[in-house]
Amino acid sequence: MKKLCVFASGSGSNFEAIAREIHVSLLVCDKPKAAVIERAKRLKIPFFLVNTKKPREDYEADIIKKLNEHGIQFIALAGYMRLIGETLLNAFENKIVNIHPSLLPSFAGKDGIKQAFDYGVKITGITVHYVDSGIDTGKIIEQAAVEVTNEDTLETLSEKIHKEEHKLYSKVLKNILIK
Ligand code: GRF
Repeated sequence: MKKLCVFASGSGSNFEAIAREIHVSLLVCDKPKAAVIERAKRLKIPFFLVNTKKPREDYEADIIKKLNEHGIQFIALAGYMRLIGETLLNAFENKIVNIHPSLLPSFAGKDGIKQAFDYGVKITGITVHYVDSGIDTGKIIEQAAVEVTNEDTLETLSEKIHKEEHKLYSKVLKNILIK
């Protein structure tokens, strides 16, 4: 099994769902007050808080140093709200994946759930994809559809999406990490 690091900036519900299924060796977080830090502490998973006040090249070099210290071989982004730069992309070529809460290429970027809800689509979903230098543009690995009913609100749709994410992401990661 390859050693996994999860990158997150926010609540960390996906981080926790992954950690319940797979051994997560390290969390990388860019927000000192993010709830995901509390989850890491509770789950006894080491975390690295990135100092993003430096240029991206420099803080990504700091991240790579940490990843190497922990022997990390694969990265899963789970609500990490920053673009991955060339420094990290070159060091972990084809070894970074992301989960996005829509059926890409529709509704890429921020607030994918709200974008789909506001548009009025009847089917939306989630996408796990490789990360490249664009925003949610890398090769698609797996998708799952989620129906939007007339009764759905943004909140109920978000709940349904997150439930699917929590199931799909660890399943996909398991398959990749054993190869
Ligand atoms: C998820 O909806 C994921 O698809 C998106 O960011 C959100 C992170 O949620 N990239 P959480 O922090 O895992 O709860």
